[in-house]
Amino acid sequence: MRKEKMDGKVAIITGASSGIGEATALKLSEKGIKVALAARREQELKRVENKVVEAGGIAKSIPTDVTSRDQVKDLVSEVLNKWGTIDIVVVNAGAYLRAKVEELSVKDIEQSMAVNFYGGLYLILEVLPIMLKNGQGRIIVVTSFDAKKGLPLDAPYVAAKFAMSGFAEVMRQELKPKGILVTTIFPGRVDTPLITDLKVPSISAKISPGKVAQAICKVIYKYRPEIILPKQAGLLYYLNVISPRLGDYLVKLFRLEGWYE
Ligand SMILES: NC(=O)c1ccc[n+]([C@@H]2O[C@H](COP(=O)([O-])OP(=O)(O)OC[C@H]3O[C@@H](n4cnc5c(N)ncnc54)[C@H](OP(=O)(O)O)[C@@H]3O)[C@@H](O)[C@H]2O)c1
Repeated sequence: MRKEKMDGKVAIITGASSGIGEATALKLSEKGIKVALAARREQELKRVENKVVEAGGIAKSIPTDVTSRDQVKDLVSEVLNKWGTIDIVVVNAGAYLRAKVEELSVKDIEQSMAVNFYGGLYLILEVLPIMLKNGQGRIIVVTSFDAKKGLPLDAPYVAAKFAMSGFAEVMRQELKPKGILVTTIFPGRVDTPLITDLKVPSISAKISPGKVAQAICKVIYKYRPEIILPKQAGLLYYLNVISPRLGDYLVKLFRLEGWYE
């Protein structure tokens, strides 16, 4: 899709009440894309909606808990009623659950899967018939670098992010011939409320949510199947493919799992 063709397109962004979702809403609306903002906190969503509108964009906040399939159905219906179609979906809502493997419960994994996997899945399944009918669409899935190299203590989060990345990889190949382009974004550490209190080593310093939003915006104009950012995260991924033993060593050496003080 070329730049001028984006004006007036309709996007749904989940997890739009803060962090990467908020930054993406601002970035896409700058390009003339109408943005439907979904998350649970009404006030925060309204704040983002006002920000977009003040900057000259078009936005509608639609409070939604993505773990509820009914609420996701209502979200899609509301967007269709208002704007008639859905061109872009940014599957971004997520929660960070951290627990030692020997201490975690099945409930921890279920909770993480509910938002980080099923929350995305419900939305994708709901918009797919619309995109298939249109013969075009963009699905951008924000997973995590953790879905390229699982870090210690992140088992619940990593399990769900790997599941979503795997699903997106298959979807990407099946849907491309039908005009639906799927991109998976694998960010390293990002400076958002999700990990405010987590300290990280300087080698994996937190990048701004704007950087991730920029990458999302870029792939809408110029398709890429996957993006890993920042660059040093990409390097760790390739080293880990060559030698998982080396990957594990580097994680331990740099304390990439981070820590709380
Ligand atoms: N920060 C990082 O280091 C990092 C790194 C890699 C990937 N990511 C991924 O990036 C995505 C965005 O996270 P962020 O870093 O921008 O953190 P964030 O600012 O905490 O944003 C998370 C968003 O998800 C929403 N959310 C959580 N549970 C939800 C639910 N059940 N239903 C609907 N919305 C829900 C939150 O809104 P409400 O609370 O209002 O519902 C919020 O808008 C997540 O998928 C995260 O896993 C983050």
